[in-house]
This record gives sequence, structure tokens and C-alpha cells, in this order.
Amino acid sequence: MSGVENIKRIVEIRNLNKYFRDMQVLDNISLNVNEGEFISVIGASGCGKSTLIRIIGGLETASVGTVLVKGKTVKNPTRKIGYVFQDHRLLPWLTAGENIKITLDENEKDADGIVKKYLELVGLEKFENAYPTQLSGGMAQRVAIARALANKPDILLLDEPFGALDAITRINMQQELQKIWKSENITMILITHDIDEAVYLGQRVVVMSSRPGRIKDIFDIEPECHYQRTGQVFAHTKDKIYQEFFKNEELPFAYSI
Ligand SMILES: Nc1ncnc2c1ncn2[C@@H]1O[C@H](COP(=O)(O)OP(=O)(O)OP(=O)(O)O)[C@@H](O)[C@H]1O
Ligand SMILES: [Mg+2]
Repeated sequence: MSGVENIKRIVEIRNLNKYFRDMQVLDNISLNVNEGEFISVIGASGCGKSTLIRIIGGLETASVGTVLVKGKTVKNPTRKIGYVFQDHRLLPWLTAGENIKITLDENEKDADGIVKKYLELVGLEKFENAYPTQLSGGMAQRVAIARALANKPDILLLDEPFGALDAITRINMQQELQKIWKSENITMILITHDIDEAVYLGQRVVVMSSRPGRIKDIFDIEPECHYQRTGQVFAHTKDKIYQEFFKNEELPFAYSI
């Protein structure tokens, strides 16, 4: 059997259209995501990125077309699909550890062990008993990632998870996320506004256009971009994506291409 035949599709999106009342938000989106792949999705604000990821996660339904995860339509949120949002959404009255534990299956026998394992994975083993207000933004977001991973999802959906963080913390978090992606062997779909982040993390970068949201182009990213942020390959890749991103869009005056 050739390598190509061994690739398994975990998400299959076919001719997806989404309307809110009579407003079309997504127009004929088709995309396959392979098991273990890291996909970045970029697009202007309001182009339908969150709607797309919410449909994949079963938080929203398609108007037309199909979205299959492991061959089935997702009708409701499930533990097999993890979610990380821009804000951490931790419950303020629970500690970091309790915030993770509360999401686990009630029949889980080793809940405490799992909480410890995933806090350790995100480097927060010493903060199990800290409350969200005692954590920095980056730390709280790491707890949110640990919480999503603790249920051993097949897919992790990340909707601008680092949008609220400062630039340095953001770079650290990107490195950590990449490490987790490699160690956990999990499929990740990341929504971001940040082309740097999209290229550094994604094996493919999906560029969307707005009103209604369509896939403009999909870029395969050279593996070098995943460890060499300053080289020519990275700069050239970013350039190509910038040009596609702004092609036929109204340009802010700072960008002239
Ligand atoms: N539940 C809803 N009901 C009505 N309209 C909605 C709903 N959710 C999203 N929309 C509309 O759909 C469009 C796309 O929204 P969406 O949140 O998917 O965009 P986005 O690309 O994630 O934007 P951003 O980058 O700002 O997060 C917007 O015009 C928004 O107002
Ligand atoms: Mg959004």
C-alpha cells in the first residue's frame, strides 16, 4: 500500500453553506483535514471563521452541505472534539485543577492523575490549586488547553486562542502548542488573524475571503517554517500569503501590494 492510501481523513467538509436568516456567512466551503494534521485558517474579521469551526465542533449546524468528523455528522458538542477559545472561560470559583476535573467523564477513575498529567504537560503542575484570578492570561490559557486535552479529543479546535496575549507570551505559547501537537499526535485546527502564527504552526494555511466566507486558497507550508521563523523560506511564505490575503480586498492604507 502506498503512503497516500494510508492517510486518513478526520474531517470532511463538502459544499458547506451557512446562512443566518437571509445572510450568507459561508459559501460552498470544501476542505478535508487528515488525521494528525495541523491546519491554520486565516481571514478578515467577520468572514465566518468561528462559524466554520463551530460547525465542525457541533456547536452550530450547516445550512447546506455536510461536515463529517470521522465519517459522521457532529450534532452536538462531544468530548472527542476539544475547544479552546480566545478567552479562557475558566470557572472563577474553581481552582485550575478543578476546572479540568469538572469536564472529565464522571466514571473516570483516575481523574486526579489525569488533571496532574495535563497540568504538567502545559507546565503548570505547581498551580493546581490556584484560582483563575491568581493566574496570568497566558497561564489561564494553558489551563484551558490542558482542560481541552484532558478528555483525549481526536481533534483540538482553537479559535484565536492567543489573541488576547502579549507578543512575547504569544510566541512562547505557539512553541508550547507545537510541542503538544507533536507529543499528543492530535489533529489541530487553529483560527488566527496572525499570518506569522498561521505559518509557524500550520502544515497547511487556509486563506478565507469575506462576505460571504469562501476559501480563497490553501498553502502547503515547508517544514522549515515550523522551526525557522527568521529565514528566507518563512519570509517568502508569509509574503505569498499576505498577497493572497489582500488580493481583491479593500486594503488598509498601510499595505500596498
Ligand atoms: N448566531 C449568529 N446569529 C446571527 N449572525 C451570526 C451568528 N454568529 C455569527 N454571525 C454573523 O456571521 C458572520 C461571521 O461571524 P464569525 O463570528 O464566524 O466571524 P469570524 O471570522 O470568526 O470573525 P472574527 O475574526 O471577528 O472572530 C458575522 O457577520 C456575524 O455577525
Ligand atoms: Mg471569530
